Amino acid sequence: MGTQNPITRNIRDADHDGVLAVVKAAFGQDDEAALVGRLWAADAVTIERLAEIDGKIVGYCAFSPITCTPELDGVLLGLAPVAVAPGHQRTGLGSAMIEDGLKACREAGARLIAVLGDPKYYARFGFEPAAAKNIRWAEQDAGDAFRIIINDDNHWGDITTDEMRLIHYHPAFDALS
Ligand SMILES: CC(C)(COP(=O)(O)OP(=O)(O)OC[C@H]1O[C@@H](n2cnc3c(N)ncnc32)[C@H](O)[C@@H]1OP(=O)(O)O)[C@@H](O)C(=O)NCCC(=O)NCCS
Repeated sequence: MGTQNPITRNIRDADHDGVLAVVKAAFGQDDEAALVGRLWAADAVTIERLAEIDGKIVGYCAFSPITCTPELDGVLLGLAPVAVAPGHQRTGLGSAMIEDGLKACREAGARLIAVLGDPKYYARFGFEPAAAKNIRWAEQDAGDAFRIIINDDNHWGDITTDEMRLIHYHPAFDALS
């Protein structure tokens, strides 16, 4: 049996156990897998992608709704978590899932996509410092680690920078320490 190329795809209910196992293994703890469970239970995953090799799930990423104060119109999404199974990391799977997911976000008309994570890693997908738009994570000032992509394709108009905007993740994230 030859090795198949890795694929990325949307997920089905039957994938849930495999996804949770990968998220747990990637982070080496239960918290992020529990978060994914809470997001599913709240029907709060807008876009998700998994990576699969030879029918085995080896990666997962999710985009869920975020809110902004003062309010911003349009679809606003946060990318988290991103997980690739140990042993498959640094082989391009994370990048493939994120790029595929971002394409789906654009197709869904997302105006803004936020991420909190390693700036060097996420910069390669076009995430730019949110601070440049006077946008901040509501929990704390995460500096360069809080980044956004703004899609102007839907003619929402420029995001003004005259007042600071705070981004709130879905309540499912509240229990994440
Ligand atoms: C972070 C993670 C999702 C990246 O996925 P991946 O498939 O391993 O990464 P890719 O193969 O797409 O990208 C590899 C590149 O990213 C860099 N990279 C990978 N993980 C990185 C990290 N945590 N920080 C900074 N850079 C990282 C590598 O140096 C490599 O760079 P290069 O292409 O210049 O050599 C994966 O390593 C993972 O699951 N880590 C544990 C869980 C985690 O920390 N998730 C992110 C927080 S939500």
